[in-house]
Amino acid sequence: MNDALAARWRREFPIVDTCTYLVSHSLGAMPRRAVENVHAFADTWMTRGVRAWSEGWWEIGRAAGDLLAPIVGAPPGSISMHQNASVAQAIIGSCFRYAGRRRKIVMTALEFPTNIYVFEGFRRYGAEIVLVPGQDAIRTNLERLLDAIDDETVLVPLSLVLFRSSYIQDARAVIAKAHRAGAHVILDIYQAAGVIPIDLTELGAAFAVGGSVKWLCGGPGAGYLYVRPDLGRTLEPAFAGWAAHADPFAFEAAAIRYADPPERFQSGTPNVPAVYAARAGYEIVAEIGVAAIREKSLRLTRRLIERAIAAGFRVNTPLGDDERAGAVIVDVPDGDAAAQELIRRGVIVDYRPGAGIRLSPHFYNTGEEIDYAMDVLTDIVGE
Ligand SMILES: Cc1ncc(COP(=O)(O)O)c(C=O)c1O
Repeated sequence: MNDALAARWRREFPIVDTCTYLVSHSLGAMPRRAVENVHAFADTWMTRGVRAWSEGWWEIGRAAGDLLAPIVGAPPGSISMHQNASVAQAIIGSCFRYAGRRRKIVMTALEFPTNIYVFEGFRRYGAEIVLVPGQDAIRTNLERLLDAIDDETVLVPLSLVLFRSSYIQDARAVIAKAHRAGAHVILDIYQAAGVIPIDLTELGAAFAVGGSVKWLCGGPGAGYLYVRPDLGRTLEPAFAGWAAHADPFAFEAAAIRYADPPERFQSGTPNVPAVYAARAGYEIVAEIGVAAIREKSLRLTRRLIERAIAAGFRVNTPLGDDERAGAVIVDVPDGDAAAQELIRRGVIVDYRPGAGIRLSPHFYNTGEEIDYAMDVLTDIVGE
């Protein structure tokens, strides 16, 4: 296997020399560059104090959003930064009314729970929540989902990649149906950004949300929100703060006058240290290119699947490359205990009930690591 990517990048991610790190669907490895950035944040705070706000801190969200934009196919000025994806979802939810005929929020029951929890909360504002059962634990029932989107639908939160199975949903079909019905899709790209190519502009999604913890190797606290440029200026989030004001330092005591996007969707003070850290991951992913990451990811996940099937394990991830993102879910008897034992032996993975052990190679992993992880898992199950 040509492992030029691993050879080039492993030194930048110290943790990969200490264990077999196969958990980037949960927490991507920390780049050395992020350590430098966090130090730079601390130095700036210590030496520049309050002057730092006018020396880059106040606009840090916009700058980080512009760094992320090419990775997800978004234009500059379309992404704002938030604490996490849940907050970003809530901000979008707060742009709409849930009264009269059009008040449905439609999604699959396989969504990441935060999407369900956030919008369940909107029932008190009049929203009707429609949860469409999956075809099984791995795939969406696309036909039923499309049927459920009608002219009473306001929003369709949709994970581009399902967290439990790594299944790539047919966002194009859902967006097309939503547009015909006059509804908006909020694409949750958390499990996709940084590992599969995404072109938000080409997809035409109204909104996208996600975070930096996983495949972007950006650490916690740097969630993001994309709003399609033609839509941005027409929306007025009720969940807003002073950083979303057209003139925040006028400190007006009246209803908000909205800034233009992306600040319009910002709430209050930006999460400066998290954004400092996250930029390192964005730069590295952009430098490598998502196409190269995807090519390697497919090679390694194929190898993982081959090994799992050869060992007689059940694979709860689509086998076809077109349907599968970066993680592979392997179901073995007593999976929770097996995952704990893998971790104890230095193979870092996680376990999700109803799915199995999630393993995910990223650009810094090698084929040898896949073989090692599967050897260890086979031993554990044999024991
Ligand atoms: C698809 C998806 N959406 C959202 C989240 C998390 O959302 P938040 O940033 O609010 O923690 C995750 C994982 O943690 C996820 O896999």
